[in-house]
Amino acid sequence: MPQSLRLGVLTGGGDCPGLNALIRGVVKRGVHEFGHEFVGIENGYMGLVEPELTRPLTEEDTRGILPKGGTILGTSNKANPFEYAVQENGKWVEKDLSDEVLRHAAELKLDGLIAIGGDGTLTIGHKLAQKGLKVVGCPKTIDNDLSGTDQTFGFDTARGICTEAIDRLHSTAEAHDRVMVVEIMGRHAGFLTLDSGIAGGADVILIPEIPYKVESIVEKIRRRGRRKRSFSIIAIAEGAYPAGGNVAVAEKAEDIPGRGVVRLGGAGKVCADLLAHHIEAEIRVTVLGHLQRGGTPSAADRVLATLYGCKVLDLVRDGQWDHMVALRNGKIVTAPLSESRKERRVDPSGETVRFAKSMGISFGD
Ligand code: F6P
Repeated sequence: MPQSLRLGVLTGGGDCPGLNALIRGVVKRGVHEFGHEFVGIENGYMGLVEPELTRPLTEEDTRGILPKGGTILGTSNKANPFEYAVQENGKWVEKDLSDEVLRHAAELKLDGLIAIGGDGTLTIGHKLAQKGLKVVGCPKTIDNDLSGTDQTFGFDTARGICTEAIDRLHSTAEAHDRVMVVEIMGRHAGFLTLDSGIAGGADVILIPEIPYKVESIVEKIRRRGRRKRSFSIIAIAEGAYPAGGNVAVAEKAEDIPGRGVVRLGGAGKVCADLLAHHIEAEIRVTVLGHLQRGGTPSAADRVLATLYGCKVLDLVRDGQWDHMVALRNGKIVTAPLSESRKERRVDPSGETVRFAKSMGISFGD
């Protein structure tokens, strides 16, 4: 009979479709096969700093959550225990509360912690593991930019949403002879923009890995005009920027207590404003924003997340702490949590970009 343990589960960072499917997979296999008991930790690591944010996580809690977006545990992308924002004398200061996390985990009698999140959440998990906490991880992000795994769950759903958005923009662009700029999430990596741009038939794809030149885009739009195509679709990642220019920032890191990273936004408008000097056609900007992260997960994401949830219990069983589950060459495998720190980027000379270019899609370079 396998050993029954008491395990904490948390979801950290930005939410993405599939988190609930993963929680359900963990709890169902955990209860049925191992007799584990689970503690739900709310709002990411915040729930381990402030332990009143914990509650039993039972199979009953996971009923009916498979098709739901978001996370039943709540999440936070500000609750880094190593740089935790607290108010002192009316000012926000950052404190290292990681010892508190270890103390609370002991008080909660946790035999281990399952951290579900992106690079930030998993890197914190790795740092806590180095301090002695037994942590295993599951990678998620719509950006698909974690190097330890071929694909993160959440990406497939978001790619579908972006593709549908581009499809819808096509008909209205064509009706009005407009240039439609659609801004898609992706801070440093353009996977979402690249894939949905190809799937949606965008004319121009602008990604952070390839700084764009306005003249190249103008030339592409004019070329289309000469072929009597008087509308164009430009898919742009939020982290894309003009050569020699800067990434468009919506909110600086120092203005967001406890966040430590800038909030991007405005790349589409920057691009539209630059183009407006050169083309006669009307330009409209659509920012897909958090629509990309909400709602029901795709079948592929539900399956991947469920398998991650089941597999992570093998790591627990085998005492493979400080590791995460990963997808490599179609197989669910394990990788060190430290891998999550290495970010993955679109290869500008890789096959996908090369073939897209060969079909006439402009990358603005
Ligand atoms: O990392 C996922 C992501 O969706 C990024 O693409 C985006 O920049 C960020 O989260 C937005 O975060 P927030 O929810 O804090 O606006």
